[in-house]
Amino acid sequence: MEQERAVPRHVAIILDGNGRWARKRGLPRTAGHREGCRVVEQTVEDAARLGIEYLTVYAFSTENWKRSAEEVGALMQLFRFYAKRLLEVAKRNGAKIRMIGERSAFAPDLIEAIGRLEEETKDNTGIVFTFAVNYGGRDEITRAVRKIAQKVSAGELSPEEITEQTIEASLDTAGIPAPDLLIRTSGEQRLSNFLLWQAAYTELYFTDKYWPDFSKEELERAIEAYRGRERRYGGV
Ligand code: IPE
Ligand code: IPE
Ligand code: MG
Repeated sequence: MEQERAVPRHVAIILDGNGRWARKRGLPRTAGHREGCRVVEQTVEDAARLGIEYLTVYAFSTENWKRSAEEVGALMQLFRFYAKRLLEVAKRNGAKIRMIGERSAFAPDLIEAIGRLEEETKDNTGIVFTFAVNYGGRDEITRAVRKIAQKVSAGELSPEEITEQTIEASLDTAGIPAPDLLIRTSGEQRLSNFLLWQAAYTELYFTDKYWPDFSKEELERAIEAYRGRERRYGGV
């Protein structure tokens, strides 16, 4: 008898469609981002309750700096607010919070808030919630290669010793297993520079719903689809 597949251990989400959600309602794009943040908070709670061990959410890409100063500024303000608020969420459900991406680009107070969030939740044993901000898969791999090259030039590592594990351990996601399921909202079907290395064998799920309309039911639907699939890793 075929064993029923459990919930995916690691779910990654490319949240997309905040701007279109707002435009449909005649609201500014930033209203969509505000609503989107509320849904992220809700999704952390839902995922924890569903027994998902790792949730990773793409909130701001290395390419998103190209947006208007007004929109980028509003997003930074939202991160600031949520850096504090997430501490409350973590207290409620025991979540451990991590950030991936190049944080040195942020204002000093925001870098400090992110550091505090990670430090104060590091011993929590609930869901690991990772948010990707100023994250790009290419940037992450580039920084990893730089770290490895520094070890080689310092004589701590020889080129022959470099393995996939060496690279994995140098990525921002070190210690987090590869995602089992990746969800993208808003009908777009691309990775947009998210988890390029880690998603090598991840199952992909796309929904037309805009991110602010995402819900626990949508998450359950994605998990249901995942459970019905036969995963392959290149074998027969
Ligand atoms: C996702 O929504 C949030 C971010 C990328 C910051 P968008 O802002 O990309 O919304 P659309 O795609 O323009 O509708
Ligand atoms: C992807 O969304 C990045 C994030 C969700 C943070 P975008 O809306 O920026 O991606 P593209 O431009 O549609 O590929
Ligand atoms: Mg978008």
